[in-house]
Amino acid sequence: MNPDALYSRYQELQQYVGWTEADAGRIRAVMALLAPHLPALIDDFYAEIDRHPDARKVITGGAAQIERLKGTLLQWLQELLSGQYDRDYVARRWRVGWRHVEIGLDQVYTNVALSRLRRGLLHTLEQQWTADVRDGLAIRQSLDTLLDLDLAIIEDAYQAEYTARLQRSERLAAIGQVAGGVAHELRNPLNVVKTSVYFLLNARNPTPAKTTEHLQRIERHVVAADGVITALSNFAKLPVPGMHPFSVEASIREALELNALPPTVEVVLDLPPDLPAALADAGQIRIVLGNLIRNAREAMPNGGRLTIAARSVEQSVEVAVTDTGVGIAADQLHRIMEPLYSTKARGMGLGLPIARAILDKNQGSLRVVSANGQGSTFTVRLATAGAPGGGPAS
Ligand code: HEM
Repeated sequence: MNPDALYSRYQELQQYVGWTEADAGRIRAVMALLAPHLPALIDDFYAEIDRHPDARKVITGGAAQIERLKGTLLQWLQELLSGQYDRDYVARRWRVGWRHVEIGLDQVYTNVALSRLRRGLLHTLEQQWTADVRDGLAIRQSLDTLLDLDLAIIEDAYQAEYTARLQRSERLAAIGQVAGGVAHELRNPLNVVKTSVYFLLNARNPTPAKTTEHLQRIERHVVAADGVITALSNFAKLPVPGMHPFSVEASIREALELNALPPTVEVVLDLPPDLPAALADAGQIRIVLGNLIRNAREAMPNGGRLTIAARSVEQSVEVAVTDTGVGIAADQLHRIMEPLYSTKARGMGLGLPIARAILDKNQGSLRVVSANGQGSTFTVRLATAGAPGGGPAS
């Protein structure tokens, strides 16, 4: 974090807890009293770490490292009691949290270690303070607040660094997953294209029919590869939806027209005439319906029945797309909307995540019920443009 921004944050936290220059003065005044006792507190600090294997395991350098760490902690305590809480002081506090993430120390050990150190410091103060009791109490409060501020910065740094590292590793894992998925999807069409090109270049006197067959095969697989790229870029940059009222029935009929079904699939439409207009981006909803129709088609390789039923529910319209296909096993059901998770031998596993992402942006939702071997129902819910026109929810 930028040291200036960090320092501003620290000052804001100081204000929050009511820290003033008087507190800093009290700490400075007590420094000499506490200083001779710091080595004993530090010894106790490391003796306790030694009793906890999960804390101890981050100390990989043996006795030499512990000696060095004792020096580091002494310096930390001297700075703490110095009464100088400037920009560099705060930056060094931030480094502690950052370094602890780097070495893999669980933050809870810093919390309990600080708690132990706090008890030790306050106990020493109690033992050594012989002047006015009220002054002693004020010093105690200042020390407490100072330790809270230090811990706040260390924890903040820990959290920020921990999250940043997690995001980096998740991003890398996601890139790997996407790269693997794309490679898998493109290899097959490219291999077909390669084989056909080889034939066209090397066949002696190919018949015009054979040549046409190979050219058509190339075209089909180039279109398939293009589809993979389009699906990916659709996913990467979903445009902001233009929310307008539109006819759900018209959208369903267009999606059916664009996504041809084989004659082995019977289509049943259940669309009440008084269905209210939905409020969403009609073009994007057509993509959602298209994905659900294609999904249903792929779930019924041997044919079956596709039912698309719409109804008005409260302030929304629901469209249920039901197939009589293979269904989805219960243990896969919660994963099918994850990007690149596919239960099919072919297919990028992007259809349902795209549908869900579109619906999220269009203030809609998607839910699924499925029974293995019996089929699935995907239900899209969209807001209506005006007052609901249909019957109540059943
Ligand atoms: C009050 C709680 C603690 C404070 C104030 C503290 C302070 C520090 C400081 C100032 C550093 C050096 C950071 C830098 O590189 O600039 C550090 C590093 C480290 N701390 Fe802590 N620490 C605390 C708790 C712990 C605990 C409970 C452990 C448990 C084993 C631990 C283990 C380490 C280790 C292994 C390093 C790296 C040391 C190296 O570079 O060799 N710390 N800590």
